[in-house]
Amino acid sequence: EKGNFRHFMQKEIFEQPTVVAQTLNSYLRQIDQSVALPQIDFDLSAIRRVTIVACGTSYYAGMVAKYWLETFARLPVDIDFASEFRYRDPVLEPGGLALFISQSGETADTLAALRHCKAAGQTVAVLVNVPTSSMAREADLRLPTHAGPEIGVASTKAFTCQLAVLAALAAHMAVRRGRFDRAEERDVVAHLAEAPAALNAALAHDADIAAMAHLIAPARDVLYLGRGPDYPLALEGALKLKEISYIHAEGYASGEMKHGPIALIDEAVPVIVLAPSGPLFEKTVSNMQEVRARGGKIVLVSDAEGIAEAGEGCMATIEMPRVHPLIAPLVYAVPVQLIAYHVAVAKGTDVDQPRNLAKSVTVE
Ligand code: F6R
Repeated sequence: EKGNFRHFMQKEIFEQPTVVAQTLNSYLRQIDQSVALPQIDFDLSAIRRVTIVACGTSYYAGMVAKYWLETFARLPVDIDFASEFRYRDPVLEPGGLALFISQSGETADTLAALRHCKAAGQTVAVLVNVPTSSMAREADLRLPTHAGPEIGVASTKAFTCQLAVLAALAAHMAVRRGRFDRAEERDVVAHLAEAPAALNAALAHDADIAAMAHLIAPARDVLYLGRGPDYPLALEGALKLKEISYIHAEGYASGEMKHGPIALIDEAVPVIVLAPSGPLFEKTVSNMQEVRARGGKIVLVSDAEGIAEAGEGCMATIEMPRVHPLIAPLVYAVPVQLIAYHVAVAKGTDVDQPRNLAKSVTVE
């Protein structure tokens, strides 16, 4: 049921504070501010490396997780699209954890990759939203997201719930590997617990985003830029826009722009910059100057501090709450989803059932 919403996608975007809180509830123990993973009957501290395999939006959640697992747990992380992983004869050594991320738990390439890893003796963990799915049944370790049924073909709430679990997992691995002391664990738990309120604050800017959608809707091409853990959000933004508005879009790591894509920049190609203020912000500001010097039109998505510093001369700015860098990828998912949503609505495309797409891709 859509309730008061016009589309399932819109309803699911607005459910995120609730479902992320629900998901976090089963991973964070408030009583001692610790992370607790469900159903573990093997020794996670013995894991030597992590291989993440997924498709589409779930793959982008995995890209963010690579930053967290490396930074917090100092674990080497390899990540690949399921369709590539399967056919490249990957090196899978003893002590490896293979982590599969999937909303449906049925994506054919991801499931085949899971079976391959299991046969190769890897410990198999799955992060799935459908608890009765094939992937859930075949895994050694199940990490459920509690996003509830996702009806819109474009994944939204499953993604932010995946990120919430992945952050908890990275913190837990850090504790088990002796990289985090209690204070560091409590810190991560406290920041994650702020995510639902921060998501609400991001959603409060829905009307601003709706009001600027007409600036993007006529474009033939759109670029998204992001850095560090927010770079995968640029990829996710481009995917969402392509999927539901049929506008060609590309996501780039901000610093890569001058190595090619900058040739595309002119006043007809909007550039959406995802840049929370913080240690990487200055770098992104210089990338924005490169765009502006070539007549590019920028939409800056940042917090008040970032907008005060770099908002001048932008075609539009979208203000996000100021948040800890850990939860920025969750919070910046909201404007990315809402931009795609409102541009699609402005163009009159079928938001919930985009052409050529199916909710669950069970063919290879
Ligand atoms: C994008 C989208 C797809 C899925 C992909 C993987 O909005 O929905 O890219 O993310 O098909 O699906 P799951 O997560 O079910 O394996």
